[in-house]
Amino acid sequence: MEVLVTGGAGYIGAHTCKRLFERGYRPVVFDNLSTGRRDFVRWGEFVCGDTRNPEDLAACFARHRFAAVIHFAAAIEVGESAADPLKYYENNVGGTVALLQAALRRGVNLFVFSSSAAVYGDPERVPIPEGHPIRPKSPYGRTKAVVEEILADCGRAHGLRWAALRYFNAAGADPTAEIGEQHEPESHLIPRLLEAAGGGGLVSIYGTDYPTADGTCIRDYIHVNDLAEAHRLALEHLAGGGESAAFNLGLGRGWSVREVIATVEKVTGKTLDVRPGPRRPGDPAVLVAATGRAEERLGWRAEARELEAIVETAWAWHQRRPRAFEGGEG
Ligand code: UFG
Repeated sequence: MEVLVTGGAGYIGAHTCKRLFERGYRPVVFDNLSTGRRDFVRWGEFVCGDTRNPEDLAACFARHRFAAVIHFAAAIEVGESAADPLKYYENNVGGTVALLQAALRRGVNLFVFSSSAAVYGDPERVPIPEGHPIRPKSPYGRTKAVVEEILADCGRAHGLRWAALRYFNAAGADPTAEIGEQHEPESHLIPRLLEAAGGGGLVSIYGTDYPTADGTCIRDYIHVNDLAEAHRLALEHLAGGGESAAFNLGLGRGWSVREVIATVEKVTGKTLDVRPGPRRPGDPAVLVAATGRAEERLGWRAEARELEAIVETAWAWHQRRPRAFEGGEG
């Protein structure tokens, strides 16, 4: 079974390709390498192409008989999306529209989409169920929310069967440490702390006056291989006639920034130079997933349930990863 994986040279995409390959699928990675890495494409064919280019897409669909599409390719920086919104609408919305047109034209109607907890904005309550109001606070989050609406419209009009997977905070790396998280520049908390542990340097805590027990933001960190497995299960859910829906992917519990720092210090054995700083605009105080829907309908349950175990895999990757960057962000 051939599966088109856009953005398969990126962090979550590469882990998903590995999981699919191990389960007998044939992933075909479609990626423009603007942020993905060629050396992450190890489990299936590589096609260099851009989702915004209908010709690239048509050529790829003509050469393969895809049973399904898993769509990761997107720009992912919340802050950048506020400064350059059209980049996000063009890439994340325009690219998805072109991809859906190419897929539906070829009769491919199973579609798994990388959505985000960013669709919720500031939660009214935590843990956040999928039925929570959708009120994204950034252009990035709005692109994800808009695409979910587009998928639902295509379901009604064209029989598209879709799953929108709303990731909370992806973290960790495959235990083999052959693929992992790396962005350029790095903005995410855990890789930043690991960089500081590896080479020194300062990490700023973005706000210590939140209404949480220790004053720092709480996030639900989910291991990237658990995300990968959810994509496989979502694919099988849709292929088996399961209902289209959005699914939260998280552990259902959260850790504060200070707890993450303490965990990284424990795993690495280093004392980190961290300083309290101002809040980062747009950060909700607490984001924790209600995970019942994915458990009940997909039969999914995260295996890595402790932050320490997740950080251990990220640290192994951090120590092994190539220093020189090949092909931009991860
Ligand atoms: N943080 C710091 N210092 C840093 C980096 C981050 O204190 O140097 C804090 C942030 O304020 C936040 C937490 O650590 O409270 C986690 O921050 P990340 O940047 O690692 O992740 P986010 O929660 O901001 O972002 C994630 C995904 C986004 C998604 C968002 C949903 O990476 O794609 O959740 O809100 F949009």
